[in-house]
Amino acid sequence: MIFYFSGTGNSLEAAKSIANYNDERLISISKEMNSKDVSFEYTLKSKETIGFVFPVYAWAPPKMVLEFIEKLKFNNYNNNYIFSVATCGENIGNTMKVLDNYLNKKDMKLSSGFSLVMPNNYIIMGNVDSKEVESKKLQSAEETLKNINKIIKEKRTGIFQIQKGLLPGILTSVINPLFNKHAMNTKKFNVNNKCTGCGLCERVCNSKTIKVKEKPEWGDTCTQCLACINLCPVKAIEYGKSTQNKGRYKNPNINISEM
Ligand SMILES: Cc1cc2nc3c(=O)[nH]c(=O)nc-3n(C[C@H](O)[C@H](O)[C@H](O)COP(=O)(O)O)c2cc1C
Repeated sequence: MIFYFSGTGNSLEAAKSIANYNDERLISISKEMNSKDVSFEYTLKSKETIGFVFPVYAWAPPKMVLEFIEKLKFNNYNNNYIFSVATCGENIGNTMKVLDNYLNKKDMKLSSGFSLVMPNNYIIMGNVDSKEVESKKLQSAEETLKNINKIIKEKRTGIFQIQKGLLPGILTSVINPLFNKHAMNTKKFNVNNKCTGCGLCERVCNSKTIKVKEKPEWGDTCTQCLACINLCPVKAIEYGKSTQNKGRYKNPNINISEM
């Protein structure tokens, strides 16, 4: 049973690969969270593997992923194998520790964890990767996934193949809380007159905060997944001035209809 969260398709590509290789079911965390259920209960098959695949946001799991885990309940849980893959542009700090702490509160434990470098989609600071870097990252991620898939199939425990970056403690414990406090603001999203009102941004929004009347309008809740900005077919959405004249990213191996 693989739970995934994805803004621009990288984590979905990884989750699909793992689900196919290991013959596991795939469940979208944001679809579950938007279903308005107050808790999420799943019945596990005997020895079923549990996985969490998501992008790292400021060196920690997205808030929606952690909130989901807080509401998660398994029937038949019996020390099942639990793994996680955090996709990232560069590194993930102590993301796996944060995830494990949330699992520990539910009397569960992360068996193995991985970071997976994929193209960057955070264009509020910085820009997308060059096409050359993008394709190198995607090729190398495919190779890394083959190795991850084998480890998961064999249910090997205690394997933590993680790019933490420099000073992971500071990245995760200092920068991440600042990001959660200041960067979630939806007031800076705006749309220019290229917008056709097609409604794609509303459909792909992981927080279901966007409502398109003639043009999109943002509510208060947001995960900063940047699906709206990156996937807009006419590049009409900006975040203040930070995203102007920058590239946009969508994982080329994922169809927009799957998002
Ligand atoms: C809000 C936000 C914060 C991010 N923070 C990090 C980070 O701390 N480290 C990193 O290497 N990449 C970071 N990224 C890049 C993404 O983790 C990376 O591109 C990921 O593969 C995107 O996955 P997705 O296509 O499934 O949404 C961030 C992206 C976003 C949108």
